[in-house]
Amino acid sequence: MSTTTVSAPVSARKKITTLSFQQKKERGEPITMLTAYDYPTALTLDQAGIDSILVGDSLGMVVLGYENTLPVTMEEMLHHCRAVARGAKSALLIGDMPFMSYQVSAEEATRNAGRFLQQGGMDAVKLEGGRERADAIHAIVAAGIPVMGHLGLTPQSVHQLGGFRAQGKTALAAQRLLEDAQVLAQAGCFSLVLESVPAQLAAYISQRINIPTIGIGAGADCDGQVLVTHDLLGLFERFTPKFVKQYAHLNAEMRRAFGEYMSEVQARQFPGAEHSLEMNAAEWHTFLGAQESQNEK
Ligand code: KIV
Repeated sequence: MSTTTVSAPVSARKKITTLSFQQKKERGEPITMLTAYDYPTALTLDQAGIDSILVGDSLGMVVLGYENTLPVTMEEMLHHCRAVARGAKSALLIGDMPFMSYQVSAEEATRNAGRFLQQGGMDAVKLEGGRERADAIHAIVAAGIPVMGHLGLTPQSVHQLGGFRAQGKTALAAQRLLEDAQVLAQAGCFSLVLESVPAQLAAYISQRINIPTIGIGAGADCDGQVLVTHDLLGLFERFTPKFVKQYAHLNAEMRRAFGEYMSEVQARQFPGAEHSLEMNAAEWHTFLGAQESQNEK
């Protein structure tokens, strides 16, 4: 039996907004963010008091079983965004724009970003990339839609990057990353994910831009942290990045539960009397009597 204390559900929290993110940065209070793709996880995260939920396109890998995030479509994202929005009422909800939904033109990016709010119930969108995304970000923000940027290891560019590799490790790459972060802040992003970049660089960028940075594999000195929930819970075993800490081992726990269920069904131990319905004895005898008289005819 675990002795770890579980925090009580946070009831009737105030809605977290992009302004709350900014205020937390100013107060030096770390922002907490995790991913969710379904109603029960969103509900539980919201009850736990998480600041923000990202409906990440990591959905493609950890829920839909794709090799990477590239096949994820707008329709798939919106379907899961709606489920999350039904579960979480207080956390800031951010929808991840999938590959090719924002790269072609600023107009198409704005239209697709709008769908996340109108049809997906999200509060904001996230998109990957640096200076090359400035026009799209300007246009989306001008439409009144908050945008979170994403720099460093940007999984939608996995083929261009030559794999899921850490970024910003040379002086030149670090300089480019800092400049990109400044461009995104100027373009109007309210926050920025920094993925798989050296801790010193993430800390340096966090001090030099006035919007909150959310780190994943970027050290402890970002303004907040995000992880893929399936990684944190030990639910996705295909591969675990070095920066992931598993706070639970649910895959093993699920295998144990499934195995126990199968053994009990095979041994006719499940369902027991406590999981079965009983008919009132008088009704049952009336039924049997009726059967007998029918059989005699
Ligand atoms: O898709 C995702 O879950 C993400 C996070 C890892 C930041 O982009």
